[in-house]
Amino acid sequence: MDFTELSKLRQSCRKYNPEKAVDEEKISTILEAANLAPSACNSQPYNVTVAKGIKAKEVAKATTGMGMNSFTADAPVMLIIAEGSYSRTAAMGAKVKGNDYRSIDIGILSAFITLKAAELGLGTCILGWFDDKKVRSICNIYTPVRLIITLGYPEDNYPIRDKKRKNISDYVSFIE
Ligand SMILES: Cc1cc2nc3c(=O)[nH]c(=O)nc-3n(C[C@H](O)[C@H](O)[C@H](O)COP(=O)(O)O)c2cc1C
Repeated sequence: MDFTELSKLRQSCRKYNPEKAVDEEKISTILEAANLAPSACNSQPYNVTVAKGIKAKEVAKATTGMGMNSFTADAPVMLIIAEGSYSRTAAMGAKVKGNDYRSIDIGILSAFITLKAAELGLGTCILGWFDDKKVRSICNIYTPVRLIITLGYPEDNYPIRDKKRKNISDYVSFIE
């Protein structure tokens, strides 16, 4: 599968088969791929907590509210991505340039995770809607949680949707 095919295959999965567990080996394979993600000054300033079983259910509950994310209850695995320590150079760069490299790096990490999962036939959904305080308490995390990714097998016959996107010309311009 080439990159474009994989990019079309990856989509937010909002219906999981709750009976089908994800092998440890597949989780490791995804984490190995994610470990290749680039980051500012190669500092990899994040911590990932892999929640399964009762912990996944508790985290799922903390992602719901105002009609959002009720589908997470069926996801067998939740990956909680929190801020980690910058390296000294990345911290200095972020301060001097006033840029939040940590969140950018977490976004790139999430792209690697979701694409690798799609290649393995797994469904994911990146979540930005959750109760940070509750998630931190459930997982014993002491830094801000930036994203959570649901992971599991899509329910049978879950359709691959056509991507709805802006026209590239709406946001790309060329200069020389
Ligand atoms: C930072 C971020 C936060 C998101 N938060 C949520 C969320 O809380 N709940 C949800 O169902 N989808 C969430 N999404 C998924 C987006 O809605 C989805 O990626 C977008 O609509 C494009 O659809 P696709 O992923 O199927 O291609 C989030 C995606 C990103 C990148």
